[in-house]
Amino acid sequence: MLKIENNVLYIENKSTMDLVQEYGTPLYVYSEKKIIEKINEIKKAFTLKYPNTHAAYACKAFCTPYICQLLEREGFWLDVVSGGELYTALRSKFPRERIEFNGNNKSKEELVMALENNIGRIVVDNVAELYALNKLCKELEQKTEILFRITPGVMSDTHDFITTGKKDSKFGIPLDNDIILPAIQYAIQSEYLKFLGFHFHVGSQLQNIDAHLSALEVVLNLIQVTRERFNYEINDFNMGGGFGIRYTDEDFPLGLSQFVDPIMERLINFCNKNSLRIPHVSMEPGRFLVGEAGVQLYRVGNIKIIPGVRKYVSVDGGMTDNIRPGLYGAKYDAIVANKVSENRTELVSVCGKCCESTDILIKELKCPVIEAGDVLAVLSTGAYGYSMANNYNKLPIPAVVVVNDYDSKLIVKRQSYEQMSINEIVEF
Ligand code: LLP
Repeated sequence: MLKIENNVLYIENKSTMDLVQEYGTPLYVYSEKKIIEKINEIKKAFTLKYPNTHAAYACKAFCTPYICQLLEREGFWLDVVSGGELYTALRSKFPRERIEFNGNNKSKEELVMALENNIGRIVVDNVAELYALNKLCKELEQKTEILFRITPGVMSDTHDFITTGKKDSKFGIPLDNDIILPAIQYAIQSEYLKFLGFHFHVGSQLQNIDAHLSALEVVLNLIQVTRERFNYEINDFNMGGGFGIRYTDEDFPLGLSQFVDPIMERLINFCNKNSLRIPHVSMEPGRFLVGEAGVQLYRVGNIKIIPGVRKYVSVDGGMTDNIRPGLYGAKYDAIVANKVSENRTELVSVCGKCCESTDILIKELKCPVIEAGDVLAVLSTGAYGYSMANNYNKLPIPAVVVVNDYDSKLIVKRQSYEQMSINEIVEF
């Protein structure tokens, strides 16, 4: 998706110099070809390879009408986690029956919105939600299909802040018998809820399959227990997302098949051995679909050299448009987009313009001699950049552009000062 021509970085066939000229900086840019490549990878490794499966895009990674519509066309489902994401999906005319709703504290209003719009399924995250949802369905005289998100009690090999499967987690129903079993029984017996099966999400940016496989054992056991205790066969299993991508040379992501095949093999063998029906299987990748397709373009501003210590290179965005380095210590690689072929002779720290010492986008970047006015392209920024953007220091949220071959199109306008302040009342 990236190439070099005359010392300049191109995204597909579009020069980054033209992009910044046309749309300004900071700028989120996506390569459509790359997103489609990832979509096809998921189809090849999962949905086309195994019957009775579907893939839902966890739209928290990048939630805009553009991506909803692209994935609609490609036959994907959508995983939403809030009324706002659901609103974006509905506004994008995403088919309701292909929407699933996750989240540990869905409000009554959000659940009503989901029910009234007849979305595909709700992933129930805790027992309180189970009862509340049942009550709501009764009030609205409506039925809905549900899965249970369970807390499988497994550790995953990723940053502690983005691991979600361990027992001490705010997500999911704990596996203690006196909690999970009555919940299963309640769901099976409910007139309003159709209990489909189990869901887990064990963490993000995973580069090995251990956590998924351990969590799978937990689900297999639950499937069996559900049949033995309640004479009920599970129809559905969702393995969550979390499939890692390449941010820097330090990442060695697995191919998707390396996640999917062992999971499917174990599941199919288990079901065959125990004369169980093989459930419908789904996944919920977010980052995998959009992460590597995104590039952020910044204009270099002030440069500060502390002799014998460091060279700070300030850019015109920062933790407001990419909070991941500050929040998780996430690492990124970057290219000086107008000096791509020049030797990387300098070691610099790239910092944003926010009034925070932690506003460092890249602690150590090897690059050519970098000067004010250069354009910096930070790579693999397509997931959780725009979607976690904020207005700290009253910095407007950048525009988002999609490149397709020689063309580019604006899919999110740059926020103006006026738009940023629209809800703020001026009178004292
Ligand atoms: N399904 C559920 C229930 C999730 O909670 C998540 C992510 C996903 C799917 C998608 O995970 P992915 O495939 O994108 O790793 N904001 C953080 C990560 C937190 C993600 C939380 N849930 C980041 O910037 O890395």
